[in-house]
Amino acid sequence: MNICDQILAGKSSSILKVKELIRQVANSDLNVIICGESGVGKELVAQALHLCSNRKGKPFVKVNCAAIPGELLESELFGYERGAFTGADRTKVGKFELAHSGTIFLDEIGDMPLSLQSKMLQVLQDFQFSRLGAKTDVRVNCWVLAATNQDLEQSVREGLFREDLYYRLNIIRIFIPPLRERPDDIDVLIDYFSGRFAEKIERTLFEFTDGTRDFFHQYSWPGNVRELKNTVERLMILGDWRTVKAELMARETKQFGSHELTTQPPPPVPDDYEVVTVQKKKFPPLKEVKKKAVQEAEGKLISEVLTETDWNRKRAAKLLQISYKALLYKIKELNLRRED
Ligand SMILES: Nc1ncnc2c1ncn2[C@@H]1O[C@H](COP(=O)(O)OP(=O)(O)OP(=O)(O)O)[C@@H](O)[C@H]1O
Ligand SMILES: [Mg+2]
Repeated sequence: MNICDQILAGKSSSILKVKELIRQVANSDLNVIICGESGVGKELVAQALHLCSNRKGKPFVKVNCAAIPGELLESELFGYERGAFTGADRTKVGKFELAHSGTIFLDEIGDMPLSLQSKMLQVLQDFQFSRLGAKTDVRVNCWVLAATNQDLEQSVREGLFREDLYYRLNIIRIFIPPLRERPDDIDVLIDYFSGRFAEKIERTLFEFTDGTRDFFHQYSWPGNVRELKNTVERLMILGDWRTVKAELMARETKQFGSHELTTQPPPPVPDDYEVVTVQKKKFPPLKEVKKKAVQEAEGKLISEVLTETDWNRKRAAKLLQISYKALLYKIKELNLRRED
């Protein structure tokens, strides 16, 4: 079994395609962007790319661009010299330097602030940069992998992501479809996770019957492989299929909020666990739900900042870490108005 098959379980045509792509680009050093919803396995694919390349054995350094506040991200990536700013009482080596000769994985790249994107573009061109406060440049050799669960093309259109950086990162694009679109992987994943977990806990409390498997096939897995893995592990520890199933069904109902099911009582959990009773529902497209939620959150924050800055849009754009142009676009798109 090759390393890709060991790491990535699945036999659907889309996973086979992903594995094929991994093998093809593994030693190319071409920039790769890995896309897909949360929990589909983007980080795992990044690890597989590294382990299939001749950089394996060298560092694999992950940076989560969403978890680190904008102003700290630059020093995290590129490091700083002692005394570069107040509080910099020692020199810090950045992640790019730590990844030298190996791979750097820029997770959630869509959340990188615009102000840092131009520096990133430059670094991707010549792999040369200076630590903050340093007089000399360092040069590194590393393979750049990035991942996002956002629609970066949309972010480019909205002025939130630089187009030139997008094209530089997007040389090879690996898209991992959501689990609901690759039902052929479900049984393989059940067996994979239950087998591994049984080894770990040294017992098997739960047998996956045909009924349980049927339910796993009908459920939509909004949290993708991560949710399936957690569900399998919980079942094996608790053995309580009835509770777990009721929770999954409630989650599915909640997830798709305003459709006809909410006007009815929640579906009963049958006593016979083998009978699968997922009702056929009309789901609004996930993209629509996501877009609405994002717009609501953005509208709230932008209004707050505009009030705070007394509608000084230049200052507001700065605080929001987006360009002035992007802010004007947002104000128009979200139909925000000054309240007197
Ligand atoms: N094909 C697969 N085979 C085995 N395990 C998988 C597979 N896909 C995902 N997983 C497992 O599912 C979990 C989620 O995967 P991962 O963290 O790579 O997802 P992600 O796309 O990076 O999610 P997020 O966007 O939330 O960061 C991990 O525990 C990972 O090991
Ligand atoms: Mg991830």
